Amino acid sequence: MPLVGTAEMIEAADGRGIGAFNVITVEHAEAIADGATRAGLPVIMQISENAVAFHDGRLEPIAAATAAIARACDVNVALHLDHVTDPRLWEIAPQHGFGSVMIDQSKLPYEDNIAETGRAVEFLNSRGLWVESELGQVGGKEGDTPLSAHAPGARTNPLEAIDYVAQTGVDALAVAVGSSHAMTTRDAALDIDLIAALRTAVGVPLVLHGSSGVPDVELRRAVRAGMVKINIGTALNIAYTNAIRDYLGENPDTVDPRKYVTPAREAMATTVAHFLTLLANPRAN
Ligand code: G3H
Ligand code: ZN
Repeated sequence: MPLVGTAEMIEAADGRGIGAFNVITVEHAEAIADGATRAGLPVIMQISENAVAFHDGRLEPIAAATAAIARACDVNVALHLDHVTDPRLWEIAPQHGFGSVMIDQSKLPYEDNIAETGRAVEFLNSRGLWVESELGQVGGKEGDTPLSAHAPGARTNPLEAIDYVAQTGVDALAVAVGSSHAMTTRDAALDIDLIAALRTAVGVPLVLHGSSGVPDVELRRAVRAGMVKINIGTALNIAYTNAIRDYLGENPDTVDPRKYVTPAREAMATTVAHFLTLLANPRAN
């Protein structure tokens, strides 16, 4: 199937959450495709600037592989370029099949964040791409101190959000509401009242980052309160790495990576199907 635009997919969400999963390797993309197919639900595959750095700074090979896997899928798939700080990366997004980009200038002073993000919005919107950006730092990113995510005040202010969306023209807003990146435990408590207030305040869809650390029940509440795009990365890596650890623990002499990557990819697919199903049914118990 042809790739679907992120805007189109988010517009069709209709009260459901759409899972956006991080692609680091080709196996991640294959697992996301498999999990979404099993769930029978649309999905977003996203490649972050950090993942591009892992691939020696080259976007094209991993983007081409991900797009090919996405196009072979029986469910709708959109491609998103995530956490981009370098303009040289967002400038080439349109030519690699991406339907959207997240501009992450959250560490810049407010006015600089607005100027840089606004510049990206103008360029990307004119080429048909949807733009997400972040206001209020969602902690836990590389270089952050581990405590910053939970620091009091690490929350998006609704009044500032209204101003920010108006001045930048972004299509979606990533907000700080209690989640944190790269959590390996699922015990983040979200500020559901703040999500509802932000949803009312800004006229654009809200994005939850660092969703791996959020319990299932809390994710459902977040979607009911107005979150639409739910970003999940670490949960796939936990599934992947645990499966490899288990396999090699039982088969320490294995050298063929296909032996241990196969169950790891399968574990990621199961994780994707689980999250997609729960996000698509936010009112279930
Ligand atoms: O943008 C990507 C997500 O925010 C992933 O966060 O790895 O903590 O699930 P996570
Ligand atoms: Zn993120």
